[in-house]
Amino acid sequence: MSKPSQKSWQARFSESAHCLTESYVESLSFDRRLWQYDIAGSVAHAEMLAEVGLITKADCQAIVRGMKEIEAEIRADRFKWDPACEDIHMAVEGALITRVGEPGKRLHTARSRNDQVALDLRLYTRDAIDLDMLPLLRSAQAALVEMASGCVHAVMPSYTHLQRAQPVTAAAYLLAYVEQLDRDFDRFTDARKRVNLCPLGSGALAGSTLPIDRQAVARRLGFAAITRNSIDATGDRDFITEFLAAAAMCAGHLSRLAEDWVLYSSQEFQFIRIADAFCTGSSMMPQKRNPDVMELVRGKVGRVYAALLGMLTLTKGLPQAYNRDLQEDKIYLFSAHDTLKASLEIVAEVVRHARFNLDRLAQATQRGFLDATNLAEYLVAKGVPFRQAHQHVGRLVAEAERHNRELAELSLDDFKTICDRIGRDVYDYLGAANVVNRYRSEGNAGPASAAEQIRYWQQRLGGNA
Ligand code: ARG
Repeated sequence: MSKPSQKSWQARFSESAHCLTESYVESLSFDRRLWQYDIAGSVAHAEMLAEVGLITKADCQAIVRGMKEIEAEIRADRFKWDPACEDIHMAVEGALITRVGEPGKRLHTARSRNDQVALDLRLYTRDAIDLDMLPLLRSAQAALVEMASGCVHAVMPSYTHLQRAQPVTAAAYLLAYVEQLDRDFDRFTDARKRVNLCPLGSGALAGSTLPIDRQAVARRLGFAAITRNSIDATGDRDFITEFLAAAAMCAGHLSRLAEDWVLYSSQEFQFIRIADAFCTGSSMMPQKRNPDVMELVRGKVGRVYAALLGMLTLTKGLPQAYNRDLQEDKIYLFSAHDTLKASLEIVAEVVRHARFNLDRLAQATQRGFLDATNLAEYLVAKGVPFRQAHQHVGRLVAEAERHNRELAELSLDDFKTICDRIGRDVYDYLGAANVVNRYRSEGNAGPASAAEQIRYWQQRLGGNA
């Protein structure tokens, strides 16, 4: 039935755990990923314990030496992961005790796995933000800015409701994504403030009677401050949920870009050429060239959303302080981190190797009355109230459509029949190229504004762009 195994908490039990229990409650199979944070936290804790005199300097040295050995073994993939250890904390502590004996047994003084795991997760999440999310967002932004700088004067149709709307520069279109990713950058940066607090010393939930120095541990580990309330600090996982929420929005942004490009690279649009390296073929249809990478960028968002929803569900209705449910948090954190990291990396590469099909863009801007709004604004400048101007142009569009023409192909007489305020100068206002050059409002989608935005981003992104 039950197979005997010795746990650090075994003394209180008369029976050892059922084998099903052992495998059901273990987290080592996935939380071993936290090993370097667990070791860093233990070293900082041991050094603090020595500083305040709770262990000797010699004990501390033995602990640090043991931890260095363990670290080297894990790095070299020589460490024996014992499945009987419940989690990463017990695996590392157990290995330490095997190596250095008694000093190792003093390490867990004034510490619980509850504040230990909270610490490890905060260190992990901080690195996920600093080493992956922020730099990868910057690099994806830089790739988009770089691509935009090559198409400041390329005019393309824009769409609302996926119907042709107004002409824009291809650069302005790309820069819209740079904005979205910038908000993601800000969200991760903001979440980081609440990640970067040290929970160690909160113990199981109530703190400790021993004279530990929490500030010293926080300083050693580079935290901005310590958490204020030990009960909250052991049960709080908001910082993970916030990370996942920022990740979910970011993944959502990538899915929009992916969807656009799947569409824009289709035979129907042919606006963008996604490089061969990011497409795959079909096993049956020899002519196919599918944008699988972008389809998967769109599809993998499911994992990130699932992680956020899973985390919200996991923490809802939990009693105050630590509950074992929280062990599952890592599943969501790791999954979203891995998925978004991979998607950000590949999207930046896809962008770096993509190019607009300028002929097709130019061709596409010829049709669809992209200049209709501009014509209405021309009339406004001539003193016609906008509502009336809108009606005039509506009629002109209907008239042109009947004869299968664009607005610029109407004669001055055609114009005058519907509105006598229209003069010969109207032709300088028609056609996509004329329109984009006439955009005036700040932040518009024309070439001058795009060039200005590019300068802004090149400066903001510095070395990245
Ligand atoms: N493996 C646990 C987790 O990830 C560590 C904390 C367990 N604490 C406890 N008292 N059982 O949440």
